[in-house]
Amino acid sequence: MTAKTPIESLTVLTDLVLPGETNYLDNLFGGELLARMDRACSIAARRHSRRIVVTASVNHVAFSKAVPVGSVVTVEAKVSRAFNSSMEIYVDVWTEDRQSGVKTKVNEGIYTFVAVDETGRPVPVAQIVPETELEKKRYDGALRRKELSLVLAGKLDPKEATELKAVFLGKEEEK
Ligand SMILES: CC(C)(COP(=O)(O)OP(=O)(O)OC[C@H]1O[C@@H](n2cnc3c(N)ncnc32)[C@H](O)[C@@H]1OP(=O)(O)O)[C@@H](O)C(=O)NCCC(=O)NCCS
Repeated sequence: MTAKTPIESLTVLTDLVLPGETNYLDNLFGGELLARMDRACSIAARRHSRRIVVTASVNHVAFSKAVPVGSVVTVEAKVSRAFNSSMEIYVDVWTEDRQSGVKTKVNEGIYTFVAVDETGRPVPVAQIVPETELEKKRYDGALRRKELSLVLAGKLDPKEATELKAVFLGKEEEK
């Protein structure tokens, strides 16, 4: 299978924050943002794999800044690394100032999607070749994030999580 670059899966969703999508403080409701992120990641995973894809896990979400009602929100998702059947998708969330048009990053998230066949069985996907510095950084960290997600899900023995152990113990102690 021919490898692909992250830009080939780039998915950009832009939409308003309407009053029915907010919390008591008139800021975007967290669950609504998660749904927008999940949708963008799902399309990115589909563009990369050209298969049916399902969300396997939400590895990380940081709600760093509140997003007020009336904001224009842009969600940008790209596959950062592919393994066998699973793909890590990084999603960045931006708002845009009404007058200046200046974009501010407000949130980010990391999702794992799995490509499956019509019966829901995992199938292989193309590998990723990162191009930019940021894509390379995200690619390099993806294996330890996969290990962490699997350990938390009870699907990997922490002793087997070699990349993850190296983060805490350093390469030397790990040996
Ligand atoms: C995701 C799913 C297909 C994985 O099936 P599975 O039986 O665990 O299959 P496997 O163990 O072969 O795992 C398949 C891949 O998913 C990865 N994976 C599974 N659970 C994971 C998790 N919690 N975090 C990260 N990766 C995970 C595995 O590491 C493997 O990756 P690889 O093939 O790239 O090495 C299956 O659990 C499923 O269908 N879940 C429901 C999905 C869904 O409905 N999502 C919408 C939520 S409402």
